[in-house]
Amino acid sequence: MTTLSQDELKTLVGQAALKYVVPGEIVGVGTGSTVNKFIDALASIKDQIRGAVSSSVASTERLQALGIRVFDANDVAELAVYIDGADEIDHHGYMIKGGGAALTREKIVAAQSRQFVCIADDSKLVQTLGKYPLPVEVIPMAAQRVMRQFAAMGAQAQLRLRYDSPLVTDNGQYLVDVTGLQISDPLAFESEVNQWPGVVTVGVFALQKAQICLLGTAAGVKTLTF
Ligand code: 5RP
Repeated sequence: MTTLSQDELKTLVGQAALKYVVPGEIVGVGTGSTVNKFIDALASIKDQIRGAVSSSVASTERLQALGIRVFDANDVAELAVYIDGADEIDHHGYMIKGGGAALTREKIVAAQSRQFVCIADDSKLVQTLGKYPLPVEVIPMAAQRVMRQFAAMGAQAQLRLRYDSPLVTDNGQYLVDVTGLQISDPLAFESEVNQWPGVVTVGVFALQKAQICLLGTAAGVKTLTF
């Protein structure tokens, strides 16, 4: 069996996701290096779709550079499908997302889509969520308080930095990354943390879980359905 690199696995699943794009419709597009492969593949069928709703400035720029029209989420009621990557996905389709800092817009586009198709290489499949540092988008004045709340749970949270300053998201907010968690009940965890004052979005996607995962493996693309 030929060993494929992680980059090749991403290309494979990005291309495989084209099968889920509905001709004549607008497709929801996530963010990240795996989604970039999907966007590149999408360009080959751009004349068959109306366009895309994008989950980040970075994806918008890539889509537009390839001649794919980007719609404002407010101008589209419902999307047939949302294609996005994940930092971790479990056997129920629950995910950790936000490694690329786009979790809030990703959750919004996922919520307005009938089906979430996750594209990932097989290193992302886990038994229990929590090994990957959990991203949480917060209003800047709440950052320290939210970090203390995680510390009180026995976890470690730190502010995400970029060039020694707090990273500012597309929404003008900060991110904290949390390690030391074992998220055994993702639905309960998401609901609880979402209610902490100052939390914009927690990077657990349980309410907006995936229905399908196209997993890139050494043996090819495996389709998991949840
Ligand atoms: C961005 C995300 C990405 O989907 C996640 O980080 C996976 O990215 P990649 O495909 O580069 O591994 O949630 O906010």
